[in-house]
Amino acid sequence: MSYANVLGKPLFLGAKRIKNRIVMPAMGTGLASAQGEVTPALLRYYEERARGGAGAIVVEIACVDSPEGKGSLTQLCIDRQELLPGLAELAETIKAYDCLAMIQLHHAGRQTSPLVTGRQPVAPSPKACRFMRAEPRQLSREEIAAIRNRFIQAAVIAEQAGFDGVELHAAHGYLLNQFLSPYTNLREDEYGGSLENRFRLLKEIMEGIKTYTSRLILGVRFNLADFVKGGIELEEGLEMARLIEESGADLLNASCGIYESGQTSIETGSFPEGWRMDMIRQAKGRVSIPVMGGGVVRRPEMAARFIEEGYIDLVWVGRGMLADPDWANKALRGQGEKIRPCITCNTCFASIIQGHHIRCAVNPVTGREERLLRPTETYSKTVLVAGGGPAGMQAALSLARAGSNVVLAEAGSFLGGQMTAAQKPPGKSAIARLQQYLITEVESSSIQVRLNTPVTSQLLAEIKPDVLVIAAGSKPFIPDYPGIKSIYSAAEILANDPGWENQQVIIVGGGSTGCEAADFLAEKNQVTIVEKTKVLAADMENMSRLELLARLKQKQVKILKMTVLEGADDTKVVLRSADRNETIELPYDHVLFAVGNRPVLPELDPDTLPDQVFVIGDAQQPRGFSQAFFEAQMLPYRLSRC
Ligand SMILES: Cc1cc2nc3c(=O)[nH]c(=O)nc-3n(C[C@H](O)[C@H](O)[C@H](O)COP(=O)(O)O)c2cc1C
Ligand code: SF4
Repeated sequence: MSYANVLGKPLFLGAKRIKNRIVMPAMGTGLASAQGEVTPALLRYYEERARGGAGAIVVEIACVDSPEGKGSLTQLCIDRQELLPGLAELAETIKAYDCLAMIQLHHAGRQTSPLVTGRQPVAPSPKACRFMRAEPRQLSREEIAAIRNRFIQAAVIAEQAGFDGVELHAAHGYLLNQFLSPYTNLREDEYGGSLENRFRLLKEIMEGIKTYTSRLILGVRFNLADFVKGGIELEEGLEMARLIEESGADLLNASCGIYESGQTSIETGSFPEGWRMDMIRQAKGRVSIPVMGGGVVRRPEMAARFIEEGYIDLVWVGRGMLADPDWANKALRGQGEKIRPCITCNTCFASIIQGHHIRCAVNPVTGREERLLRPTETYSKTVLVAGGGPAGMQAALSLARAGSNVVLAEAGSFLGGQMTAAQKPPGKSAIARLQQYLITEVESSSIQVRLNTPVTSQLLAEIKPDVLVIAAGSKPFIPDYPGIKSIYSAAEILANDPGWENQQVIIVGGGSTGCEAADFLAEKNQVTIVEKTKVLAADMENMSRLELLARLKQKQVKILKMTVLEGADDTKVVLRSADRNETIELPYDHVLFAVGNRPVLPELDPDTLPDQVFVIGDAQQPRGFSQAFFEAQMLPYRLSRC
């Protein structure tokens, strides 16, 4: 059977039919108001995903007990009757596309901060989360009963609002998971100790929801394993699956990880596609209700394989639908190659942690649907785009879709620019898929591509564009150090692997590029990173950063912080350590610089320039994919004003 047919098969969840097997899981967006209300931006974000063909959407963590249970300042809430109209509009919007609307019910417990809630966090036991630090207050029995009622009341509000179902968030280290886990639940009363006792609160909530609502699908997201010492381990997780079914669930959503084992719930690029499916299959063997699972499932053929081979009944595609809201429609049409791929960079998660709304590095529209999905004027201007990297390709695509006649001129012999180097370090291979996706899109459009064609005044005179977009990217900066015998930029070594073995490599600059080059080379060479500050890879998303630093340690990369290069001769580099105030000499074979980039701007005769010239991406200021895609996406709006 084709993957489209497997994914397109309907299924029943309780009494409700889901039209296909693809579910968008709960993902916090930060798009609600500070009071937890649904906003127009939130509505438009979900509408795009419902329109994109998902069989069901589980709306993000909705707080059942604010402010105490809130995990972030602009978290959606479902704890007051006055929120009903907004929630009803949200449910209606999703259901208008024949997509089941579920909502996740959430209490953060100890995984929050007094800066968010204005008070001390609460938990089954007074054990602080190492990540959040604030010591929680132990809940009394009366308070537990009140929280149980809050969950039940939230489910009643969800039903009144027209949602098809609720999902209890008993995973990822939040309050219900804290009760289930022996790592966080140290109680000695009837809510702690044995599994039966730790399960009691979840069971009472499920029974209450069954009693006080009549039409809701009842789903539970829980951890098969916490991945911390003393936490839930697989065998206990499997027993929980059985207990959840026994307590009346219609749908099981098997996940894992807590904040302290963060990348096991929101994975970094080093996790293989569908890495937790073996665990989920075991859970499926213990229950007869439908089981939903996922985690780094990026390609429809993989999603279908997991369903066909009996690992799961439904697949969740989270970040895949942030990168491409039409993921499901394209998969169901058998057009997997047309899906804009997620590169598992976790910019989306980092933006939430930093207090912004959700953003996606490869899809600038995500989180900005309300602003950016408005019609632009259609006009038939001739546009010359200089540069075939990510900014240039995206600019050409956005402008061609808006009706322009686009020529894309690339000085080199291939499209993709710095993506060729960026995909080389471990865990970055998805960037190759993104590069291929953009090339395929450009090739199947009306864009005229000219390779080996630098933009010159002669070219401008030939094409006579109405608009020039300079997206020529940036070049690594290599400072002038006389005496170094073998000198490269880290980026050029990543782009063209020299195949070095047993070489002494000094990398000057410990930002993400320098660290990734070290990760790439250290398998077969002795690598030293020289960094002038105290922090390595400071420009990287934190979970990916910590994982990278652990790999550098394991590969025995030598790290010299607060150290600068002073000079070199044929055999050694001379370094100066600021904190130890000493000079260090190291033998070397090659020196690589990773000290930033400089914009590339073509030298053009001002008289040949068209009236409208835009400089975007790294050519304006080197910053990376995310900003390049955003500026490229904005061009049709900027043009229509001129
Ligand atoms: C930005 C972001 C927010 C998330 N918020 C939630 C959430 O509200 N509730 C939840 O259960 N999981 C949340 N997750 C985890 C996802 O539901 C999903 O399990 C995870 O992203 C792995 O699946 P994927 O590789 O398909 O994205 C979030 C993930 C991301 C990236
Ligand atoms: S920001 Fe990165 S990880 Fe998140 S959805 Fe976009 S590409 Fe994927």
